[in-house]
Amino acid sequence: MKILLTGGAGYIGSHTVVALIEAGFQPIVLDNFSNSHPAVLERLARIVGQTVPLEHVDVLDTPWLQDVLRRHRPAGVVHFAGDKAVGESVAQPLKYFHNNIGGAVSLLRAMEAMHAETPEDAPTLVFSSSATVYGDPARVPITEDFPRSHTNPYGHSKLVIEDMLYALMAARPAWRVGVLRYFNPVGAHPSGLIGEDPAGIPNNLMPYVAQVAVGQRDHLNVFGNDYPTPDGTGVRDFIHVQDLAAGHVAAIKALLGRGESFTVNLGTGRGHSVLEVVRAFEKASGRAVPYRIAPRRAGDVAQCWADPGLALRLLGWRAKHALDDMCTDAWRWQSGNPNGYRG
Ligand code: WQD
Repeated sequence: MKILLTGGAGYIGSHTVVALIEAGFQPIVLDNFSNSHPAVLERLARIVGQTVPLEHVDVLDTPWLQDVLRRHRPAGVVHFAGDKAVGESVAQPLKYFHNNIGGAVSLLRAMEAMHAETPEDAPTLVFSSSATVYGDPARVPITEDFPRSHTNPYGHSKLVIEDMLYALMAARPAWRVGVLRYFNPVGAHPSGLIGEDPAGIPNNLMPYVAQVAVGQRDHLNVFGNDYPTPDGTGVRDFIHVQDLAAGHVAAIKALLGRGESFTVNLGTGRGHSVLEVVRAFEKASGRAVPYRIAPRRAGDVAQCWADPGLALRLLGWRAKHALDDMCTDAWRWQSGNPNGYRG
């Protein structure tokens, strides 16, 4: 069965390609490489021992999307494509509303047109959402019925796309939709051939720590150590990208099997602080990760971690990797590819 992955050359997308092939699916990567690198396709071929089909397309190009859907008639679509830097979204809100919301509208319209042509095929979609839709949670752990809010245009775009999907599901019962709310994806495939390759200065903690460990950056700035947490630094639900990829396979199987739509958290259910991550990374890499306490970052919350119980009940999925694995695999990728895919 073919599965179309928009943004499939990206960090989560590329790891999901491997997991889908290992589960017997035939993934097709659709990407415009605006925030990913063509070299990923060669790395994927080395991991899976086969060429992964590529459609070099921008999701905003609806007619071209329709052509891709018509030619491949995928059993399902996983929608990763979009911009995801919180800070950038504050500086460039229109880019985020256009690319993320516009891109989702374009994909949904193409899928709806395809459904009109082939009514026997139930449109099947997995959407890459984010824990950022919970805003600043009143307490932790977070369950899917928590109120949603947004604190930046990136999170707002995710929340609006979720609402579009809920309205579509109400109007079109034939659609089967899985909304996956990721917590903090980190780590890399154990081969060390694919991993997170942020452009410029990493916004996120783990890639920044990895670049300090490999000597690319002088030190880590810890954004605040006066939070109401055990060691004063921020606490997050870091989840191995391999577990996240497995969650997508479980979601696709559930939609193609039972056929009921769902919204689930993909997290470990366990929080780790910034300083715990620093210590775990030093242990995994054998390198020092010097840090300085810096002022809090605007928009940060003190604690955010998932109650992943619903994903276990609905999808039979749970995260299996611990923080040490995440750091070991992230280090193997970073030390083997100090400049990411740019060689
Ligand atoms: C984690 C912790 C920081 C960098 C964001 C998005 C979310 C998702 C994941 C896309 C916080 C601290 C960080 C640094 C630091 N992205 N930190 N120094 O903010 O939890 O989530 O990324 O889907 O949608 O909101 O992740 O890794 O940026 O921060 O001290 O240089 O690390 O303060 O406590 P975050 P993060």
